[in-house]
Amino acid sequence: MHDQRFFDQILNQIEAGAHELALPLLAGQMFATSLDPVRWPGLRETYRAHPLHRTMLEDPYVARCFEKPRGYAGDAALIDLVYDRQPPDGTTARGQSLFQVTIGFPTAEAVRLRRDFAEDLIGKAHAAGQRVLSLACGHFREGDMLKGRSLDGIVLVDQDPLSLARVRNFHDGAVTCHEANVFSYLRGAVSRGEQFDLVYTLGLTDYLDDRAMALLHKMVHAVLAPGGRFILANFVPHHLATGWMDAVMDWHLIYREPAELAGFAAAAGFSARTWLDPTGSIAWCEMVKAA
Ligand SMILES: C[S@@+](CC[C@H](N)C(=O)[O-])C[C@H]1O[C@@H](n2cnc3c(N)ncnc32)[C@H](O)[C@@H]1O
Repeated sequence: MHDQRFFDQILNQIEAGAHELALPLLAGQMFATSLDPVRWPGLRETYRAHPLHRTMLEDPYVARCFEKPRGYAGDAALIDLVYDRQPPDGTTARGQSLFQVTIGFPTAEAVRLRRDFAEDLIGKAHAAGQRVLSLACGHFREGDMLKGRSLDGIVLVDQDPLSLARVRNFHDGAVTCHEANVFSYLRGAVSRGEQFDLVYTLGLTDYLDDRAMALLHKMVHAVLAPGGRFILANFVPHHLATGWMDAVMDWHLIYREPAELAGFAAAAGFSARTWLDPTGSIAWCEMVKAA
């Protein structure tokens, strides 16, 4: 009953054009309630049955995530909405207003900062002539600035052919892409004796359970040259949009604390350092294989 009334009021605010007030209130309430395992399923169910849910689907960022046109959450086209902050043609005026707010949430900002960090990372690695492996590269947007340059030495892996088609098209075909599950790619790379100086992955480990995570670390360790680095980023528990992502976007990630990332690194024989991004949403882990 209270939840129903709360959503009524949020919807009223949106209909009055007060998106900038309504959406943080909604996300905040969802954050707080998601911490309570007894109350959370009820609030989530009430939200999904409320007309507010249909209104929120006018926001193309929310809609693409909720509807999963490629069959999985977090596809590269969704991440492009975050990077570019441009709603697609055909978005309603209200959808555009909602989008302008949700795309500014700290979690979306964290994804943009993640790309910026990776751009700097591969820019330096490329300039130094290092061999780079990007796992679950999506649209490889951190490599946009390398357009027109030789991408020899950079290997990209993703399971989604549509993502790789965008990458090949953007770089005029001058890029080495493998359409594969990262684990089958790595198995092949290990057996071929391939070696890289830098391996990184963004937006992958949030979907891997602990067993897959441990295997990933072991396999990456095997394809790294001595002194090589493995860098990954993983959303942390209790970031501000946890309830929002679950109820509104139907986006379910496996959250990990920096200390948990350090644990996977140590178990695979890496020395590691971890840190939190400035929004407090994403933990980073940089691992080094002994020289
Ligand atoms: C959230 S997007 C991130 C894309 C990109 N790394 C970025 O940060 O912009 C996740 C990408 O991981 C890919 N992916 C997910 N699981 C994968 C797997 N097991 N093997 C290969 N690619 C995978 C998806 O196809 C998608 O392109």
